Amino acid sequence: MTDARRAALLIDDVDAAAALIRAGGLVAIPTETVYGLGADAEQPAAVARVYAVKGRPADHPLIVHLADAAQIDDGWAVDVPSWARLLAAACWPGPLTLVLPRGPRAGDHVTGGQGTVGLRVPSHPVAHDLLAHVGGGVAAPSANRFGRVSPTTAEHVLDELADLLEPGRDAVLAGGSSDVGVESTIVDATGDGPRLLRPGAVGVEEIEAVTGIDVVAADPAVRAPGTLAAHYAPHAQVLLVDAADVAAAASGARGPVGLLAPATVAAPEGVVRLDEPRDAAAYARGLYAALRTADRAGLATILAVAPDDGPLAAAVLDRLRRAAVGSARS
Ligand code: TXA
Ligand code: MG
Repeated sequence: MTDARRAALLIDDVDAAAALIRAGGLVAIPTETVYGLGADAEQPAAVARVYAVKGRPADHPLIVHLADAAQIDDGWAVDVPSWARLLAAACWPGPLTLVLPRGPRAGDHVTGGQGTVGLRVPSHPVAHDLLAHVGGGVAAPSANRFGRVSPTTAEHVLDELADLLEPGRDAVLAGGSSDVGVESTIVDATGDGPRLLRPGAVGVEEIEAVTGIDVVAADPAVRAPGTLAAHYAPHAQVLLVDAADVAAAASGARGPVGLLAPATVAAPEGVVRLDEPRDAAAYARGLYAALRTADRAGLATILAVAPDDGPLAAAVLDRLRRAAVGSARS
């Protein structure tokens, strides 16, 4: 795609972005987790285009983004458990999605026909500004093609979607690099207590501390298709290895080989170091950019050593496992 097309799509005016969404267009939105591809959640035709542009199966539900927690009760959800309200109060705005019984404004076109809706109040100031301008809910999956790596910069979104978005009708709203770097924690709040559907920056310990209830593993029957085994996949093959096995794995792997590992793990000679994160938060922040760098560099294999500290370690390990499955298949 041309630079002119990219330039025509990239905007930094929140008013203009809100006007495009109200007119039924698509706007890629910076959030603190990853960039989302947003549409007015109450315009089925606009939401249908989100699915078409991403190549996403129609029965995979979208998260509806709201400007503040009070909007839950504006027809988006019903029967909200008191412990879920505690979570909303403690973690919003922020990287948490609550799956709740849907209200009348959450139509089949956003819920994939399910009786529940995923709701999130992002903390990124540009996202918050946009949501406040739009007034209603903005449905937004991560702004990548289905099954691929989520974008954490406006440039990544343009790389993924510029040839599929229409300048003048759609836009990519600039907002810097996403600070968290991996998608929100998803908690199923339709039962007696929190069930974890996807790990993220809000960790199990925090959820338990806020609610006073033990978090249980997700019932596999509850549909969270982003939790498909194969997801977040770069073109290079991702191999999860222990720090002690990096050298042996590098000599056996198809080259060129890259290494994604905590800064304490040394890269063997001839292996391209993709990032040097000091902790799990830094690892998460740089994870998707590193996978994209590997693809741009034409690496055949990425050796990944997972981080081991803090709530983001679980989220990073989850994404690396799925990237490993996805890349082995593609
Ligand atoms: O951090 C995030 O959550 C980002 C930003 C843009 O907000 N969004 C995101 O959206 O990751 P997406 O569509 O890529 O992943 C959302 C996940 C999917 O796995 C979807 O199936 C699940 O949330 N989900 C949404 N609504 C659901 C529901 N009602 N029940 C179960 N899972 C749901
Ligand atoms: Mg996604």
